[in-house]
Amino acid sequence: LENGVGRTPPMGWNSWNTFGCNINETLIRQMADSIVNSGLRDLGYQYVVVDDCWFNPNRDSAGNLQGDPTRFPSGMKALGDYLHGKGLKFGLYEVPLDKTCAQYFSSYPGATGSQGHEAQDARQFAAWGVDYLKYDWCSPTGTINDQVSTFAKMRDALAATGRPILYSINSNSIHAKTGPQRNWGDVANIWRTTEDITNAWDTGQSNGYPMGIKNIVDVTVPLAGYAKPGAFNDPDMMEVGRGGMTDTEMRSHFALWAMMASPLIAGNDIRNMDTATQTILKNARLIAINQDTLGRQASSVVADTNQRVLAKRLANDDVAVALFNQSGATRTVSTTAAAIGKTGSAFTLVDAWTGATTSSGGTISASVPAHGTVVYRVSGGTSGEPPVPTSTTLVST
Ligand code: DGJ
Repeated sequence: LENGVGRTPPMGWNSWNTFGCNINETLIRQMADSIVNSGLRDLGYQYVVVDDCWFNPNRDSAGNLQGDPTRFPSGMKALGDYLHGKGLKFGLYEVPLDKTCAQYFSSYPGATGSQGHEAQDARQFAAWGVDYLKYDWCSPTGTINDQVSTFAKMRDALAATGRPILYSINSNSIHAKTGPQRNWGDVANIWRTTEDITNAWDTGQSNGYPMGIKNIVDVTVPLAGYAKPGAFNDPDMMEVGRGGMTDTEMRSHFALWAMMASPLIAGNDIRNMDTATQTILKNARLIAINQDTLGRQASSVVADTNQRVLAKRLANDDVAVALFNQSGATRTVSTTAAAIGKTGSAFTLVDAWTGATTSSGGTISASVPAHGTVVYRVSGGTSGEPPVPTSTTLVST
């Protein structure tokens, strides 16, 4: 979406994966403080997104949205001011229909959606200082045409406010479940590609609830052709630091999100991070690959049941390469400079995890542990276009 924001994938934190509906202004402020104090803000994690359950389920007498008076007694504008005062940006959740998703799976009643109030709510968000709207289609049904026109209404309402607001949508994979994926780059800055993520490597789902890391990668890699500055596939908030996976799997998760030009939205409790979690979320080499200004999503060079090789061209003509071992045992995963679009005979490889530098005449190869991902930044030679990203069928609208 050409609205001036989201030129690289957004980075930040979202309340949902760890806290669900158990949120309040004290928690969000503590998280903001920890994002600053841990150094994450200065690495680029800037959006603090308050997900579902911030609402008073009723609008005020003028029809305006309001924060829950018990959980957010200071009001939403005060929270935005606090975040801005910390050098952070303010994200909020809403739905395009009548009630938020919380109605389906918690004791929270589900709050009022923006249906029929798009312009008024967009103005309210802008007045509160909102910088990021997550807009979530909370219904198991809906035609693609309904979704396009409904999501576009809020796109236009946000634009009319004059405030740059990053627009994140979730079609709840209604269409992905039935086969085709739509390229939502004309409607939103980021759009979810799958059902909800969980802190597991593989739930066996191809696009059902909940999705493991590997399952989401399988769905999102083929959508590479849709990504560009201002418009990125969103394979959901990260599960790094939330248990349920080995450190090797957590590193793969982060490396693959970086390669897929995915939003890097942490979902863990930033107040309590172990060393492994911090090392992963703070990997500046992977963040630089993710935030590269060319805005490419890695294309698939090799894909079989044992391995994936992904290549992401970067603005300075380096190419980032991921060697992902999908199998259950250590194996050597290999490609070549030619296969990732480079010509020449002398290349330098920098390992994104260790920082180690090696020279290569063209072979790009590593011994990778089960479920691990080695990432090299490859420089030298000249870069042509990497392999054309594969993509699935577009839904016609
Ligand atoms: C469904 C979304 O996929 C989740 O990320 C979260 O926003 C919940 N809805 C909140 O109800």
